[in-house]
Amino acid sequence: MIRSMRPVIVAGNWKMHTTPADAGELARLIAARSRVDRVVRVLCPPYVCLAAVRNALAGPAVEAADGSGVAVGAQDVHHEATGAFTGAISAPMLAGLATWTIVGHSERRRDACETDELIGRKLMAARAAGLRTILCVGEQLADRDAGLARDVVDRQLRTCLAGAAPAALAGDDPLGLTIAYEPVWAIGTGRNARGADAAEMAGAIRAALASIGFADGGEDVPVLYGGSVTSSNIDEFMAEPSIDGALVGGASLRPDEMAAIVARAGLTAAARAGTLA
Ligand code: PGA
Repeated sequence: MIRSMRPVIVAGNWKMHTTPADAGELARLIAARSRVDRVVRVLCPPYVCLAAVRNALAGPAVEAADGSGVAVGAQDVHHEATGAFTGAISAPMLAGLATWTIVGHSERRRDACETDELIGRKLMAARAAGLRTILCVGEQLADRDAGLARDVVDRQLRTCLAGAAPAALAGDDPLGLTIAYEPVWAIGTGRNARGADAAEMAGAIRAALASIGFADGGEDVPVLYGGSVTSSNIDEFMAEPSIDGALVGGASLRPDEMAAIVARAGLTAAARAGTLA
């Protein structure tokens, strides 16, 4: 797949916000205001809000096979399918509720002490259940200041993807595996990376994928930027050909922000499709 044919994706990570009483209405508003051709939109509410969001999007807004509409994603999955794991949710349990999931978010790494090895198992479990999976990687500020950002991301990818046959991971689904580059120092801080730095890291991610054995040097794997993305800075990221969209936290709870972010992503999607006048 040539680079310009990669899908453009905007995923919203609602984290520990919303309730089953208000999540459906928020999803409906976002879906209605952010309808833009060719942008794959994904909303990741808390588990207990998945059904409300799914129901609110039923009908014209619901995800279609080509990625149009709005898909519903989980924020995490357990690495086993069933078992004595109190409080955990497995990938097969999400059938009928979600078609996507995030794994390896830095807040899970920080708060639940998730290791790259464990995240790799979650990734396999998610893909085995057919969930389209966004794998998060990214360095701490100290790593960046020490010039180690590329090394950190390379190590994260190698460990998370160890033992996975690249072809089997994505399968024949161009949305099967997405990597989100999320520098930890930019998440929820209001301090975003520069577009050029994110593009450099997307290059590092694809170099790591290539050395792991991904076909076409990882060029067909979408790479998103995440970390304090808003309508004010999305242009900086979408202007980079190596960046295929955004994983949005705080701003994804605001329908007008999501509308503006998706609109800007839509310009890139249209340009890639060759339909921009
Ligand atoms: P943020 O979160 O946009 O609020 O920084 C991004 C994320 O955690 O994915």
